[in-house]
Amino acid sequence: MPHEPAGIVLVGCGRISSSHLRAIAELPGDYRLIAAVDPDIDRAKAAAAPSGGHALTSLEDALTLPGVTCALLCTPNADHFAQARACLGAGVHVLVEKPLAETGAQARELAELAARKGLVLSAGHTFRHCAPVRYLQDHAAELGPLRAVEVSACVFWDGPQAPWWADITPAEGLIVSLFAPHSLDFIQLAMNGDVPSRVHAEGARHQSGWQGEDEAMIQLAYPGGRMASLHLSYNQLPIHDRKVLFFERGVMEIVHGETLLWNGEPVIVPPPGMVTDPGRMGGRDLAHYFRNQLIEFAKAMRSEPHRCPTGEEAAQGIELLDRVRASLRVNSLQG
Ligand SMILES: NC(=O)c1ccc[n+]([C@@H]2O[C@H](COP(=O)([O-])OP(=O)(O)OC[C@H]3O[C@@H](n4cnc5c(N)ncnc54)[C@H](O)[C@@H]3O)[C@@H](O)[C@H]2O)c1
Repeated sequence: MPHEPAGIVLVGCGRISSSHLRAIAELPGDYRLIAAVDPDIDRAKAAAAPSGGHALTSLEDALTLPGVTCALLCTPNADHFAQARACLGAGVHVLVEKPLAETGAQARELAELAARKGLVLSAGHTFRHCAPVRYLQDHAAELGPLRAVEVSACVFWDGPQAPWWADITPAEGLIVSLFAPHSLDFIQLAMNGDVPSRVHAEGARHQSGWQGEDEAMIQLAYPGGRMASLHLSYNQLPIHDRKVLFFERGVMEIVHGETLLWNGEPVIVPPPGMVTDPGRMGGRDLAHYFRNQLIEFAKAMRSEPHRCPTGEEAAQGIELLDRVRASLRVNSLQG
């Protein structure tokens, strides 16, 4: 069915916004950029110029523009809650970069507001939007009961990638706030969204350019004797990115996001050029993740079946993150 492109406002024109802008430009049937917003007007202008959209410094002004139906928030984490609430309050669907909000209570408030208003609220769990995760979603029921999941998400960042990373306190959690949301989203997908019965987290800091932990280990116990472990690192070269799922009928592995093995045999391999040098940062093409994510968000806004996290799922994820942070504070901060 032909449909009108959604009028989108992109808020926060920093590092990650370029991936989203590229995806918006590649999806003219789904999106039309109406405005880009950033307190740094030059950034807003650079983001809006290719599509001829407005460049503004105020979200409130952008939300009054004719034709705006949705917003994409690419701002620092501390802004997500207030800006998402403003968008929903203005009757605009919103895709919030991860994390949806800084606390479970804020995330729950957003999910409830979106439900009351009949609006789509989703979160940028970008790394679920690839062929191996879709295969898992579509085939898990054939593989027998799932007993355990092991995730290693170990990458390398040489200090803060945005200035506000340096301000994140140990109590707020650095790698658990910035990076864990992706892996926890994967684990929650594998565990059918069940709420873990127990959560244990340990953290350590190996670099000096930030205050929070840059290495963490998280263990999750789920009803039915299922378990998950997650190792996060900002200190690892070569990159080690591996997800292993232990089903009754065999072992599924997802390597560097794109290759899926079943009992060691390849089931999905990436097309040539997608994964060039997976051991180094930037050695994978991620454009399709951002494109797929926006395609799914557009379907959600049209009330079609979609693979975006719902507001409810995203809020559950932040409630889980609260428990991870609480455990981290009890364990690693005592030395
Ligand atoms: N999905 C992913 O893989 C992924 C990757 C990187 C970052 N992120 C998330 O994206 C968000 C942005 O991260 P980034 O690395 O691009 O940060 P960044 O600091 O590079 O960009 C943030 C931009 O927001 C602007 N800004 C600040 N306050 C604003 C306000 N009140 N209104 C509008 N704009 C404002 C800043 O001027 C800056 O241009 C974060 O939430 C981060 O967690 C997601």
